Amino acid sequence: MTKPILPGEVAAAVVEPEAYGEWNDLHEKLAWARANAPLAVAENAAFDPFWLVTRHADVMAISRDPQRFANGIRPTVLTNRDGEALARAATPNHDGHLIRSLVQMDAPDHMKYRLLTQSWFMPKNLKIVEDRVRHHARAAVEHLLSFDGECDFARDVAAHYPLRVIMDILGVPPEDEPLLTQQLFGSTDPELNRSREAITDAEQAIAMLNFVIADFENYFRTLTADRRAGPREDIATVIANASVDGGQIPDRELAGYYMIVATAGHDTTSASTAGAMMELAKDPALFERFRAAEADKAGLIEEAIRWTTPVQHFMRSAKEDVEIGGQTIREGDWLMLNYVSANRDEDIFDAPNRFDPDRPKNQQIAFGFGAHVCLGQHLARMEMRILMEELLPRLKSVELAGEPARVESVFVGGLKRLPIRFEAA
Ligand code: HEM
Repeated sequence: MTKPILPGEVAAAVVEPEAYGEWNDLHEKLAWARANAPLAVAENAAFDPFWLVTRHADVMAISRDPQRFANGIRPTVLTNRDGEALARAATPNHDGHLIRSLVQMDAPDHMKYRLLTQSWFMPKNLKIVEDRVRHHARAAVEHLLSFDGECDFARDVAAHYPLRVIMDILGVPPEDEPLLTQQLFGSTDPELNRSREAITDAEQAIAMLNFVIADFENYFRTLTADRRAGPREDIATVIANASVDGGQIPDRELAGYYMIVATAGHDTTSASTAGAMMELAKDPALFERFRAAEADKAGLIEEAIRWTTPVQHFMRSAKEDVEIGGQTIREGDWLMLNYVSANRDEDIFDAPNRFDPDRPKNQQIAFGFGAHVCLGQHLARMEMRILMEELLPRLKSVELAGEPARVESVFVGGLKRLPIRFEAA
């Protein structure tokens, strides 16, 4: 059977950072793919062909089958052909993974490493850190109020609070945060990357990444030595003193572990937090309803996570031939799990393009599914709930004060600008 091929404009949209800045256009193209070619091949000159997976059911089916759809074989984030070749040349074993974290691992390593910290991120343990999270939420609210009626919520509030929380839990003091900023993610966007220049070719991107990774590694090497000498109540202590297969975690995996926790936990939660605020600022009735201290915030938060889908995709590679969604995937084929599309799938969500905090059972898949399902999902929800609990009653009104703008990034996306005008309560 011949493979269905996507029209060029759909294939182009899912690989171009700029397309993720134009969210509505992107959604139209993804809706077309779901209706007409839900599992079809994207061909672009600079990229190896890959299957674009747009339906919720297919994203779930692939995610729940890590034996046949692996993370470790090819890049887990879309990378162009030159970039992958350069990364393979630049990595031990030529595996192309500049970082080796949970995300790049398959069985049996993946579970061994995941279990080291999994209980830290479970709701029961998170209760223990709730007071610390609330402390950071209150500081974020005071910071917002200091702006005297107008600010850029994405830049001035949403970007900082989840970073502070994850750094606290990890064990990084506030004065070290500037060393570990947003640059690993969103780095194709010229407004956000280190050089403030557009990253136009793979060599530049790899050099930039290696630079950032080297900074991270140096920093966490010192932190590890410190926590081995003096354990504390933080994740750095767990990671630094953990053993795998009877020995200490090797350097590469150690650095990968810190990096995935440090980076996965903030831009993502920031994006959903800013997205929630945008909807509240656009809709005074919604704001009034959730502003009430007794209003349960769970539906608002779950819908904001679906609505924003900050992790826009992850890639998988087929380890054998598999029949799925009416197509034959061949061993070695590369697949893009497009969470942005799956979260607007009309087979799962009524009126998917409506922001609706009252969805009876929100089956959003923004945290992925299966063996690699987001380790920090309960923390992300808790952070957002606590911020909303602390922030909304302190405001009398909020509205948009300018045009919001999105990050131009294929991987982690969200608002980079959200100008708001507010009145303190
Ligand atoms: C993995 C999304 C917040 C840590 C993932 C995955 C997604 C995701 C889609 C991959 C799932 C899969 O492959 O099936 C999100 C979103 C967040 C968020 C949308 C916020 C709204 C966090 C936070 C942390 C975190 C706060 C804190 C530590 C991780 C880690 C993994 C992961 C460590 C790798 C898990 C593995 O491969 O076993 N996340 N995440 N994330 N996330 Fe999150």
